[in-house]
Formats: sequence, structure tokens, C-alpha cells
Amino acid sequence: MEESVVAAVLCGLGAWLPPRVLTNEEIATRLDTSDEWIRSRTGIAERRVAGPEMSTVDMAVAAGELALASAGADAPAVDAVVLATATPDQVCPASAPQVAARLGLGEVNAVDVNAVCSGFLYALATASGFIAGGIARRVLVVGADAFTTLVDPDDRGTVPIFGDGAGAVVLRAGDADELGALGPFALHSDGALADLLMVPAGGAKQRRSDDPRDYFLDMQGQAVFRQASTRMAEASRTVLDQAGWTVGDVDRFIGHQANIRILQSTAKYLGLPQDALVVNIERTGNTSAASIPLAMADAQRDGNLMAGQKVLLSAFGAGLTWGATLLRWPALVGA
Ligand code: COA
Repeated sequence: MEESVVAAVLCGLGAWLPPRVLTNEEIATRLDTSDEWIRSRTGIAERRVAGPEMSTVDMAVAAGELALASAGADAPAVDAVVLATATPDQVCPASAPQVAARLGLGEVNAVDVNAVCSGFLYALATASGFIAGGIARRVLVVGADAFTTLVDPDDRGTVPIFGDGAGAVVLRAGDADELGALGPFALHSDGALADLLMVPAGGAKQRRSDDPRDYFLDMQGQAVFRQASTRMAEASRTVLDQAGWTVGDVDRFIGHQANIRILQSTAKYLGLPQDALVVNIERTGNTSAASIPLAMADAQRDGNLMAGQKVLLSAFGAGLTWGATLLRWPALVGA
């Protein structure tokens, strides 16, 4: 008898946004910009901000609780936590063990993955590897970022773009032919272009700086824009080819919500109809590692994702990092 392939199957979903809304109008009272400029260049109308009283771990726990509730009977047996974040609560240690402890999961395998805006895809792949390798049976995968903490409050080039939030899924061991089975994955990086999106100071290389701006994100917007669309399209084509799907098979494309124009041009490069795009950036901004699960949860809640639909996921972020994966959408509870 042929042995069935162990796959990671998505079986729970949850997302959480901090309550504080920051509108374009409010930004325009402080910086030289306008609601019209931000909307037309990015597709963003508002974003959420985690105030000083709320951390990445707090948001990750809130999203994790919802994902565990959605997973139902699968939740108690979660034996690993993978947290995608570029904004851990402390530089050291990683935040995933604190998330696991706060969720009452016991002394489980818990690790952070930092691939910035591609982090959630990398975390899905890490969790899938744990499952395929027999290291874990059920994994809570969280994408959470308080990215506004990395944004210079005086920089009109980045303040309008980023927001805070968290999203989470539960993956369980299952068969590759089940609804919700993830894969194949395409994951890539190009560290030679790290300086396109970088926080220069505060790490082991530039430990101190007299210029406070060095502790905030420095972004070369246009170069990032060009890279993002082509890279997401390339990775998407790779996984489609590997799975034997055509672009025409794709019902929904859930891309990292960085800029609506990046999503639209990725769809154009791929030859994907615009109405396959799942878009929630208008209300969230770019939430980095949280963006894909937040978009998943919004689409699920709005009835824009149905069990059996073929879904393509793709992301791009600082590093540079980028990637894609696929699944057929499962029947989910809650979310
Ligand atoms: N309001 C008004 N004007 C602004 C502005 C703002 N918030 N931000 C920048 N500008 C100005 C620039 O200073 C520039 O002025 P200049 O022509 O006098 O020099 C002008 O608008 C055009 O800037 P440009 O950078 O060419 O705009 P753009 O159309 O490329 O849009 C971004 C800027 C940042 C929105 C866009 O490049 C982008 O989204 N890039 C990708 C960023 C991203 O996704 N990062 C995360 C990746 S995971």
C-alpha cells in the first residue's frame, strides 16, 4: 500500500486588530500629506495602532486564542508555536515562548521566525516542516507585528503605509489531498538588497547612533515597489507549476497587503483577473507578518472565501524575502 504524504492542513483561523484607528486625515494634520495622496498611491484609508500599553505578544495571544477556538477539537493538542514577527517584545529572547505560556500551551516547541513582511509564509513553511518531520502534530502559526514602533513619526514616506495587528492559524498533520493542505512552497531571499528596507541601528552591527532616525525604518519606496510585484509573480508561478495548477485555476489570490497597486500589478504580471484579489489594506495598512492571516480572516468573515476554492498566497518583504504557497480552502469554524 502506498504511504500517504504527511501534509500540514489549515484547520483554524483568527485575527485581531488593536482598537485605536489612525485615519489618513489624522496623519494629514501632522505631516505634509493628504487623504487623497495616500489613498490613490497606496489604497489605504486607515490603519490600527497598538498604543504603548499593547505589545506584539499581547496581539499574538489575542489572535492565537481566536485561532485555537476556531480549530476546536484540534486546539488542545497544539504542540508547537511559530511566531512570525520583526517586532518581538524584546530584542532577546524570542517572543514565541511568551505567547505559548500566555495561551497555556505548556512547555511546547516555540520559536520566532523573522522574514519581516514575508514572515507568515516562512512561518507556515517552518510549521509544515515540523509536521512533515514528525517534530510536531499541531502547530499554532501566528503573524504579529507592531510595525508602527519601527516607523519614524515624522516620515511621511512610511507613516501612512504601516499598521499593527495579528493573525493566526492552526495547522495539523493530515493528507496532501485534503482541503486545507498547504504546499508546495517557494521561498527566496536577496540579502544584497537588504538596504532597500532597513532599520540601520540597534542591532549588532550599528549598536548606537546619535541620529534618532537610524532607529527607524529607512525605505526606498520605488525600488521596493518594483521588486515586490515581479518577485511575488515569479514565486507564484513557481508554485503553480509545481502543483500543476494554471493561473486560471486560482479562485483567490491572498497577497501581502503592502500597497493595492503592488497587488494589482502582481495580478497583471500573472494574468490573474483583478476580482481574484483579496484586499483589505484599506482598513489595515501594511501589517507586515500579520497581513496575510488578517486578509484571510476578513475574507472568510465576508463570505469571500469558500471551502474548496483554490487559493494562492504570496508575500514580499524586507531582507529581501519573498515567496508563495497554495491551498484549497478548508471549511472553517468561527474566524
Ligand atoms: N504624501 C505626499 N507626498 C508624498 C508622500 C506622502 N505621504 N510620500 C512621498 N511623497 C512625495 C515624494 O516626496 C515625492 O515627491 P517629489 O517628487 O517632490 O520628490 C513624490 O511624492 C513621489 O514619490 P514616489 O516615491 O515616487 O511615490 P510613489 O508613487 O512611488 O509612492 C510609495 C510612494 C511609498 C507609496 C510607493 O513607492 C510604495 O508603496 N512603495 C512600496 C512600499 C512598500 O510596500 N513597502 C513595504 C514592502 S513589504
